[in-house]
Amino acid sequence: MITLGIETSCDETAAAVVKNGKTILSNVVFSSLSEHKKYGGVVPEIASRSHVGSILECLDASLKKAKVSLIDIDLVAVTQGPGLMGSLLVGLSAAKTLAWVLKKPLIGVDHVLAHVHAGFLSADLKFPCLGLVVSGGHTMLLRMNSPAHVQILGRTIDDAAGEAFDKVAKILGLGYPGGPAIDRLSRGEDTKKFFFTRPFLSTHSLDFSFSGIKTAVFYRTRELKKPLGLKIKKEICAGFQEAVCDTLVKKTVRAAGENRLKNVVVGGGVSANTRLREKFKTAAEKESLNVVFPKTALCQDNAAMIAGLGAALYRIGQTSPPDMAAYSDFSKRDSFQ
Ligand code: KG4
Ligand code: ZN
Repeated sequence: MITLGIETSCDETAAAVVKNGKTILSNVVFSSLSEHKKYGGVVPEIASRSHVGSILECLDASLKKAKVSLIDIDLVAVTQGPGLMGSLLVGLSAAKTLAWVLKKPLIGVDHVLAHVHAGFLSADLKFPCLGLVVSGGHTMLLRMNSPAHVQILGRTIDDAAGEAFDKVAKILGLGYPGGPAIDRLSRGEDTKKFFFTRPFLSTHSLDFSFSGIKTAVFYRTRELKKPLGLKIKKEICAGFQEAVCDTLVKKTVRAAGENRLKNVVVGGGVSANTRLREKFKTAAEKESLNVVFPKTALCQDNAAMIAGLGAALYRIGQTSPPDMAAYSDFSKRDSFQ
């Protein structure tokens, strides 16, 4: 079965072709990031216009790379939400049109769930498992019973992990997006020179809170002599990153224990973080957990994860109507059921 995946929830226009829900034949990502950099974050209007300009070329490139033509497509999977409304509508319109013209089934996919599903494209994983989503917009712990039945165990009550990386990078003048820069600058640095309190670790809740660490970095930085030298910036990055990673790993290990789950899958942009991977490796050995990370190319926004999850949902009988609506937020939902 050949699935065409389409993803346009934020600033990446992406299309992918995936065979049997697992084998990636192509995974093409066009990013409009360079157009947003000078504003220090993604500008929704610029992102939507960029999707309109790129979507057809991106689809063509993904089909060409996969060496398939439109008539070979069995299923069209598309990000339905959450994301920027204008951006989502471009992908949704393209997917609905293709499904209608080709007379093929259409499936709308949740972007957050697709991030953790990326791990299923990189390793042999079985349900039930614990999912940790760490992206720019979301931080969540999920009990994943099947591709369609997922319960939210905990989530951030303020900033997402990636958002905290981006905001701390902004405070330190490291540009946007901040995660990769902080990851790079922290390597080999002393994580104890700047200590930041691990938020929410002493409570029983599986929720997260990252805005306090960001504020702590802001006040700590304000006390220091300006201009800040590179070495001191590196040490602040290392201390901040350690606090975030510690919190993520400890809460995940606790959630796995409470839910008696041995398989853990991590996904989203922050899952590319080197220190997070190292710390999970150590915790996995200590706690006898099987922790799976997606390949680096599948951590960022991409359409292979959309096609993969779309195919898994289709296999258990789900499809979406041609008039399905995009959604920008699901903060009030307790489950993906
Ligand atoms: O999943 P993603 O591509 O987009 C959303 O769905 O939000 O995540 C983007 C986020 C950004 O906040 C970026 O700074 C962060 O992922 N990120 C990282 C790393 N690479 C990307 N954060 C920490 N370390 C990284 N290596
Ligand atoms: Zn994402």
